[in-house]
Amino acid sequence: MTRILVTGGAGYIGSTAVYQLLERGYEVNVFDDLSTGHRESIDNRAQFFEGNLLNQSEIEAALVGCAGVMHFAGKSLVGESVQKPEMYFENNVGGSQNLLDAMKVVGVKRIVFSSSAATYGSPEVSPITEIVPAHPTNPYGETKAKVDEMLSARALGDGFASISLRYFNVAGALKTSAGWLAEKHQPETHLIPNVLKSSAQNPLKIFGTDWPTPDGTCVRDYIHVVDLIEAHILAFEWLNDPGHEIVNLGSGSGYSVREIISFASKVLGVEVPFEEDERRAGDPATLIAAIEKAGRVLGWKPQRDLEEMIRDAHLALNQ
Ligand code: UFG
Repeated sequence: MTRILVTGGAGYIGSTAVYQLLERGYEVNVFDDLSTGHRESIDNRAQFFEGNLLNQSEIEAALVGCAGVMHFAGKSLVGESVQKPEMYFENNVGGSQNLLDAMKVVGVKRIVFSSSAATYGSPEVSPITEIVPAHPTNPYGETKAKVDEMLSARALGDGFASISLRYFNVAGALKTSAGWLAEKHQPETHLIPNVLKSSAQNPLKIFGTDWPTPDGTCVRDYIHVVDLIEAHILAFEWLNDPGHEIVNLGSGSGYSVREIISFASKVLGVEVPFEEDERRAGDPATLIAAIEKAGRVLGWKPQRDLEEMIRDAHLALNQ
């Protein structure tokens, strides 16, 4: 039996990973400080270690018996990172460094890291391949790029086998035997959950209608959380020799904010009330992933389309 440590296993994406790993026959330790995650999202077949990445000995205790790590824990709000960069560097970079130090002490060498398209900033090229240099435009993206660099360096220095998976826009939900695992962010800043919660009293705000895109609203590449975790499991199984790879995870297609609104209206059969608002600071106009490398290296292709993401997120919200 292979045991994996999932950091951030009480969060939206981490708890989905925990469930899918358990269903696949893995044993799972969860490490989470519950600062943004939810205790009830952790499957009770997993062993839970409540702890903070800033405390290395707590991580070491959770690593005992593990063959590798899926590292999701971290602060993940772009806007908040602009307000509190020190909190982002301390948690995301300092916390990841402690994790790698703890892995070295315990002798665990395989790690799948939750990186982000935010590392790319606003590149001229589209779709974005992994050879596009990291030029993040906010502290959140900077912290993810720093950890990617750290993993490269430590592959050489310490013999870690690592992969950074750069997520584009994760959406959808997972149906488990105990109900849906879904986004429960407080406050919710992501587009699809906000579209689903939109009401006449509290309409969705479209952040900017004058972007250099076909309909003036931002274009993003959405990926179903279940497909995303499938790629993590393939990545973990692929890790073997010391080294570090960067692989994008997206669908390879882009949808504008207006397209998401009209698609959601069609799928759900209701109008989505919205109002046009100012641009949100730090948003790039277009982010679309090139996903050939994920196919080549991991043998992975997304299986679930935008309709399934919207339907699942909707069912989860109304469970
Ligand atoms: N948007 C709106 N109204 C809303 C919410 C979002 O118009 O109420 C717009 C945003 O301005 C953006 C698009 O919808 O143009 C998508 O916004 P999200 O907040 O859903 O996602 P982001 O693209 O900003 O960011 C997400 C993750 C980041 C990650 C990034 C990488 O939240 O962690 O994808 O692509 F870095």
